[in-house]
Amino acid sequence: MILFINACVREESRTKKLAKALLSKLGEYEELKLEDIDFPKTDESFLKKRDSLIASRSFDDPMFELARQFAKADTIVIAAPYWDLSFPAALKQYVEHINVVGITFEYTKEGFPKGLCRAEKLYYVMTAGGTYVPEEFGFGYIQSLAQNFYGIKDVELVKATGLDIDGADEKEILDKVLLTIS
Ligand SMILES: Cc1cc2nc3c(=O)[nH]c(=O)nc-3n(C[C@H](O)[C@H](O)[C@H](O)COP(=O)(O)O)c2cc1C
Repeated sequence: MILFINACVREESRTKKLAKALLSKLGEYEELKLEDIDFPKTDESFLKKRDSLIASRSFDDPMFELARQFAKADTIVIAAPYWDLSFPAALKQYVEHINVVGITFEYTKEGFPKGLCRAEKLYYVMTAGGTYVPEEFGFGYIQSLAQNFYGIKDVELVKATGLDIDGADEKEILDKVLLTIS
């Protein structure tokens, strides 16, 4: 199963356009539109409930549905616009929700995370308005999670930048990236 984690917000999203082109090459997919999900607050009662479910290894609880879905996907495609040097907060909420010890990862005796996810490949699709686009808080963060927590070593970035610069030819920029999507 291909899991499409859609953190795009705008109807005319350029990020979504690139992701859809990629998905059309990959095949059938299940879409998770993050803005439609009402994530519970990660407050103390949430953490207590989660800890007690993990302690009793009750991984089939509805609370872990998104984590189970992520762990069993064969391929993952994340689409997220570049916001404030990073990505929309909904994607961070999603990460908080799926990082469940015993489902998506576990810890070794030495305290290192070890992946429990099935996927062999994760694509990260993003677009940015400008060209100052350091990767460490957006793609770099997701890449580190994928490789070090989830055990997904093969991570590929698809990106278009400079889309909001005055006079930028949006179509030309996107077309160039679309050509690289094989
Ligand atoms: C809330 C918000 C924050 C943004 N922050 C940045 C930023 O830090 N750097 C940048 O280059 N562009 C930034 N942009 C511009 C977007 O990255 C750009 O318009 C992007 O292509 C939007 O993707 P979309 O077409 O998929 O919605 C921001 C846009 C919004 C709405």
